[in-house]
Amino acid sequence: MQKTLVLIKPSAIQRSLVGEVVSRFEKKGLQIIGFKMMTLSDDLLKTHYAHLVEKPFFKRIKDSMQVTPVFAMALKGVDAVEVVRKMSGTTNGRNAAPGTIRGDLSMSVQENIVHTSDSPENAAIELDRFFNKDEIFEYEPLIFPHLYANDEF
Ligand code: TYD
Repeated sequence: MQKTLVLIKPSAIQRSLVGEVVSRFEKKGLQIIGFKMMTLSDDLLKTHYAHLVEKPFFKRIKDSMQVTPVFAMALKGVDAVEVVRKMSGTTNGRNAAPGTIRGDLSMSVQENIVHTSDSPENAAIELDRFFNKDEIFEYEPLIFPHLYANDEF
C-alpha cells in the first residue's frame, strides 16, 4: 500500500469545500491516516515549492498559501499516489478534466483547491515534511475486503 500527501489549500477553505474534498477521497476508498490544520511558514513553503522559488510568481503562490491555515491529510491505499493525483486533475483548474477536483471546483491555476504529491518518492518526502511520525496512524479498516480483492494488497 502507498501513502500520499494532500494539502487542502486556502482556496478550498475560503469556499467551504473542505468537506467536499475529503468526501471525494473517502468515497473513493482511500484511508485517512493523518489529518491536521496548520499554518505554513515562509521557510516551509520555500522548501515545498523549491522547484518554483525562482519563478516571478512565487510570491503570489506563497501569499495565497498563507491566506488561511491549510489542512494536511495523509491518505493510504493501493497505488494511492497515482489515484489521488488523477483525482486532483491537472494544475490549471480551467483545463482540468471534469470529474476531477480541480476540474469540478476550480477556475484557476493558483486557486486550485488541493496539492497532491506527484510521485511515491515525493510523497514520502512530503509526508515527512508535514507530519511527525506519531501523527500518522496505522489501523486496519474493516471495509478492506469490500474495497480490494485479497491479491490486490
Ligand atoms: P506545480 O507543482 O507545478 O503543480 P501541481 O500543484 O499540479 O503539482 O505548481 C505548484 C502550485 O503553484 C500550483 O498548484 C499552483 C501554482 N502555480 C501557479 O500559480 N502558476 C504556475 O504557472 C504554476 C506552474 C504553478
